[in-house]
Amino acid sequence: MSQDSLMIIGGQWGDEGKGKVVDLLSGGFSAVVRYNGGNNAGHTVRYADRHFALHLVPSGIIHPGVKCYLGSGMVIDPTGLVAEMDKLESEGIDIDGRIILSPRATLIVPTHRALDAAREGMRGAGKIGTTGRGIGPAYQDRAQRRALRGHVLADQPAMLRQRAMALMEQHNYELETLFKTEPVDLEAAMTELEKMAQRLGPMVGEVGPALRRHAAAGEAVLFEGAQGVLLDLAWGTYPYVTSSSCLPGFAAASCGITPKLLGPVIGVMKAYATRVGSGPFPTELDDAIGSGIRERGAEYGTTTGRPRRCGWFDAVAARFAVEVSGIDAVALTKLDILDGVDEIKVATSYKLPSGETIDTFPADAEVAEALVPQYETLPAWAAPTEGVTNEAELPSEALDYLHYLEEKVGVPIAIVSNGPRREETMVRGNTALADRLRGIIGSR
Ligand code: IMP
Repeated sequence: MSQDSLMIIGGQWGDEGKGKVVDLLSGGFSAVVRYNGGNNAGHTVRYADRHFALHLVPSGIIHPGVKCYLGSGMVIDPTGLVAEMDKLESEGIDIDGRIILSPRATLIVPTHRALDAAREGMRGAGKIGTTGRGIGPAYQDRAQRRALRGHVLADQPAMLRQRAMALMEQHNYELETLFKTEPVDLEAAMTELEKMAQRLGPMVGEVGPALRRHAAAGEAVLFEGAQGVLLDLAWGTYPYVTSSSCLPGFAAASCGITPKLLGPVIGVMKAYATRVGSGPFPTELDDAIGSGIRERGAEYGTTTGRPRRCGWFDAVAARFAVEVSGIDAVALTKLDILDGVDEIKVATSYKLPSGETIDTFPADAEVAEALVPQYETLPAWAAPTEGVTNEAELPSEALDYLHYLEEKVGVPIAIVSNGPRREETMVRGNTALADRLRGIIGSR
C-alpha cells in the first residue's frame, strides 16, 4: 500500500477544499479512510451539478465501489452518521456494505454536545468557538478512559444501555453540579442511541486488518485528513484548536497500521487564508478586501454556517505546516477567488512587539495574537483564472504567484483548483507525484 497510498491533509486552519481534492482522486483508489475528528468537519463535494456536504463519511463514498473506513481516532456521532447515510441514499448513492466503522472509535452522545455548549458558555471571552458537536468532551472521555466505543453498537442491546446510561449519568451530574445547567433527557437519548445502533451495528469492523488486506491485494488507499495543521491539538494555535491530531502520522495510530503503509502527503491550502472560530490569525483582513474574499469565496462554514474570517496567504504558517507534517506537495484551491483584487499580499515573516522579526510559528497563542505580519506585495492579474484548466492559459501574474508560493513554502504546487467543479482543476509539474496525480485525474 505504501507505494500506492496517498494522504490528503489540511495545510491551514481547515476548510481548505479537501473534499474536492479527495473526491477528484478517490476514483483511483479502492478505499478512502477518515482517521481524525468527527462531524466538526465539513467536506464539500460537487458532482454532476449535485452538492454533497459530508461530515463523517469519507468523500470517496460518491464513487461507486470505493470502500470507506472510519478509524479508531475518530469521534463518531451515531445520529449524525445515520443522517448522513440517509441523505446519501436519498441522493441515489449506494452505500450498502461500503462504510466500515472501527470498534475502537469513540462515540459522541447527546450529553457530549451539552457539555461542549456548557464549557464554551463558561469560557466567556476566551471561548474557542467550537462547532458545538461535542468533539472536545468526547475526546476528553477517550483520554479519561470512560468513553463509549464503536463496538457497543454491535454488542448486546442490554450492554449498550448499561454502558451508555452510566456514562450519560456522569455527564448529567457534571452538567448540573459543575456547569449549573439543565441535564439531558436520558431516556430520549437512549431510545435514539438504540435506534442508531440497529442501523450501525452491522457496519462495525476492524479497520487495520481490512487495510492490510487492501495492501496485500495491491489496492491503493487514500487517507482523508480532517481540519488542518494549524488546528492540530499539539501543533496548532493551542488552545484554539480542535481536540485531535490533524497530522498525517496520526492515520497510522488511528487505523492500527504501520506508518510505512502511509503514502506521500498532499497539503491542501487556499490561495488565501481563512479561519472559523477564535484564535490567532496573523494575516486576517478586517476590511473590505477581507469581506470581498468572503463573499466571492462563499466563506461560510459547511458545518455551522458561521462566516469565516478571511486574510492573505500566510507563507510562514504554510511553511511551518509543511515542515511539521511532511507535506510533499500542495494542492492550491480557490485561486480564482483572487481574480479582481487590486494587489496580492503574502506574509513572509512576523514582527514581535519587541521589534524582533521571526519566521516560524510560535507555540504560545498569546504571542501569536500579538504578531504583526510582514508582507511582500505581488501584482494582481487582470484576466480571470476562473475555470482555466491549462497552466499555459493562466495570466502570467497568476503563474508568477504560484512560483512565488512554491519558493516561499518550499514544496511544489502539484494541483491548482480554480472553481468548485471537478473539471476546474489542473495538475502541474513533472515530479513523479504530479505524474501519478495526472494519471488518476486524467491529463488536463
Ligand atoms: P471543535 O473541533 O468543534 O472542538 O472546534 C475547535 C476549533 O476548531 C474551532 O475553532 C472550530 O471552528 C475549528 N474547527 C473544527 N473543525 C473544523 C473544520 O472542519 N474546519 C474548520 N474549522 C474547524
